[in-house]
Amino acid sequence: MSEPLRIMLGIETSCDETAAAVVDSGRRIRSNLVLSQLDEHRPYGGVVPEIAARSHLDHLDGLVGRALEEAGVACADLDGVAATGGPGLIGGVFVGVMTAKAIAAASAKPFLAVNHLEGHALSARLTAPLEFPYLLLLISGGHCQLLAVRGVGRYERYGTTVDDAVGEAFDKTAKLLGLGYPGGPAVERAAAEGDPARFALPRPMLGRPGADFSFSGLKTAVRHKAAALCDGGGEALDRQDAADLAASFQAAVAEVLADRCANALERFRSSGAGGPLVVAGGVAANQALRARLAEAAEAAGTQMIAPPSWLCTDNAAMIAWAGLERLALGLTDGFDFAPRPRWPLEALTEGENAA
Ligand code: KG4
Ligand code: ZN
Repeated sequence: MSEPLRIMLGIETSCDETAAAVVDSGRRIRSNLVLSQLDEHRPYGGVVPEIAARSHLDHLDGLVGRALEEAGVACADLDGVAATGGPGLIGGVFVGVMTAKAIAAASAKPFLAVNHLEGHALSARLTAPLEFPYLLLLISGGHCQLLAVRGVGRYERYGTTVDDAVGEAFDKTAKLLGLGYPGGPAVERAAAEGDPARFALPRPMLGRPGADFSFSGLKTAVRHKAAALCDGGGEALDRQDAADLAASFQAAVAEVLADRCANALERFRSSGAGGPLVVAGGVAANQALRARLAEAAEAAGTQMIAPPSWLCTDNAAMIAWAGLERLALGLTDGFDFAPRPRWPLEALTEGENAA
């Protein structure tokens, strides 16, 4: 007997994107709206938490209304309301959680607090059938981790960054090279016109055992090269120099990620698990990195799977999907759930959200 179709409203407000989506258990994304706050944060060269929280507050209600309307569903048609419950900028998370609780309470539907990282971790299962277990490389603005994913809420961490997240390294590199904000896509565009072999940059952790990462030395090396090229910082970088430095940076990141994934895949295999390498999170939108990681997976005798780029960067469809996955297991949350600025994925392994 097939399962009845379930419909979930998802809300994402943990950083600088206000997002609402309606997704069903048949993998149909009925609506998926993302309102970027880029213009509001651009003058500051990064996300300002207070501005983010106020902007979520101003826009979320209207966005949820539009997401329901586009999906052609009323609150009464929903089977649950899911919101990012953390980790993230706490003011924004509060706005999303309070809104979701209010809608759930008013329409007598279950409320689900979704860990943002679990949203990314399960996103590849939304667009294509993908069985557990798999090895996950989670690369975003705030995180850089390798995890064995054995099921919903069942994560074993193999490695993490000892300093910066990889997305942070992209953003800082973009700033140093004068490529603007947000950094990741700008570095990728510049790198496409650059020579990745021109600058010899360090590859932190390369060849070491384990699956940890480090990016701060690479960022410092980029800063020194950029300063040398523009005469101690007195002049702006020439366009080709910036492109070559961006390409050299991206090549170093690709090599390090591939090396760490190779070690993690070996460990994953030796634990008796099969399954592919899944890459998710905002940085997974980068096509050059995907290509290099696909090679690493192939060399280890498996496949690399990544969700489409629009599902890699923050969105609410992945939150709605994670909500559906949790609902199917009966993992709903009470209205006493408290938003969490920090919430490691391994904390879910116990299978419930109680603090
Ligand atoms: O997952 P995400 O949207 O937000 C977090 O949960 O952090 O990831 C955002 C990060 C930013 O650092 C952004 O620069 C990076 O993902 N990013 C990219 C690309 N697109 C977004 N990094 C490299 N190449 C890209 N094309
Ligand atoms: Zn994210």
